[in-house]
Amino acid sequence: MDLVIRNASLADGRRQIDIAIEHGRIAALGPQLAVAGAREIDAGGDLVTPPFVDAHFHMDATLSYGLPRVNQSGTLLEGIALWGELKPVLLQEALIERAMQYCDWAVARGLLAIRSHVDICDDRLLAVEALLEVRRRVAPYLDLQLVAFPQDGILRSATAFDNLRRAIAMGVDVVGGIPHFERTMAEGAQSVRLLCELAAERGLRVDMHCDESDDPMSRHIETLAFETHRLGMHGRVAGSHLTSMHSMDNYYVSKLLPLICEAGVAAIANPLINITLQGRHDSYPKRRGMTRVPELLAAGVDVAFGHDCVMDPWYSLGSGDMLEVAHMGLHVAQMTGQEAMHQCFLAVTATPARILGLEGYGLEPGCHADFVLLDAASTVEAIRLRAARRLVVRRGVVVSEAPRAGATLHLPGRPATVDFRLGR
Ligand code: FE2
Repeated sequence: MDLVIRNASLADGRRQIDIAIEHGRIAALGPQLAVAGAREIDAGGDLVTPPFVDAHFHMDATLSYGLPRVNQSGTLLEGIALWGELKPVLLQEALIERAMQYCDWAVARGLLAIRSHVDICDDRLLAVEALLEVRRRVAPYLDLQLVAFPQDGILRSATAFDNLRRAIAMGVDVVGGIPHFERTMAEGAQSVRLLCELAAERGLRVDMHCDESDDPMSRHIETLAFETHRLGMHGRVAGSHLTSMHSMDNYYVSKLLPLICEAGVAAIANPLINITLQGRHDSYPKRRGMTRVPELLAAGVDVAFGHDCVMDPWYSLGSGDMLEVAHMGLHVAQMTGQEAMHQCFLAVTATPARILGLEGYGLEPGCHADFVLLDAASTVEAIRLRAARRLVVRRGVVVSEAPRAGATLHLPGRPATVDFRLGR
């Protein structure tokens, strides 16, 4: 074997598992495998998990913090205005450089697949060209999936539909949309229909910014579920944000949830961004604004958590850590039950992998040898500690290493070190 990992814990609770890797794939997995590896690594009982997956990101804006100025108020509206100032002066090489730097951070965080929206409303399609180049450059170590995103509205912006078609012809993978930003509810619904028809015709997936609003009457998710069902696109469509569901009438939601489930539409919440940008028109009580994650899960809907933004016009924080995203999602949704906490881990790993349609994802024989060794014993501990990524492996090759977390103490009569792990 090229590589053997010994004594790993797995997310499903199995302990003392060995993982054998050959030719970039998992050859065998089980207790005490009778194989020898060219390299053997002792996991020491720590958690080995498939890599983190971010189902919702904006790589064309990432790490542009301070360009051309900082978002002083921290609000969505100033963020949009700032992006409008930055867009015309974007330089392709600088954008590529920022995206490449973010991908370095991602790899170090064990984040090896990202679905990024790319704004197609700039007629030069400079960001599209740049991110296609980034996708090519990072392909050996990171799966980058691109969504053609009409930030200014596909009907509201005169050239957006043409630009979106051009972006798809250039190789962008997924059809995006922003129905709640179109001029009227009717045009929003029309945009959903047109974009879903285009995707169905081309055999593409769909991922729309949908109802990113506190307006309980923003119901484009209903149209998205209807069109998905009508066009037979089950399992290939996602609604991102869906924050208006937070404020909707409970009776209406009780009808909506089965429709979303029937259509096989996935939901992507973005906890860090939703909790900071929504509810801004409220005084007190102030709404959280994140979509109804536990209720969607209970209805049988796939729910992923996305990072959305890192150091860009909308969000000054973040570092590509999907455990930070899961940590925030867990708190905002009050998902503190044991199974619910585990679901939050799945929302940044296996669930988004399914939404992206990643081939060979998982820890089973035959899957790609892509995984992360975490400084934690379980998925809940990983979230609690935002655990260090001791090892990140892509196609059987170690691509990043980090030390365990901890500190040296100088306290008389107390232990010399702490590592924040219980019972060690
Ligand atoms: Fe977004």
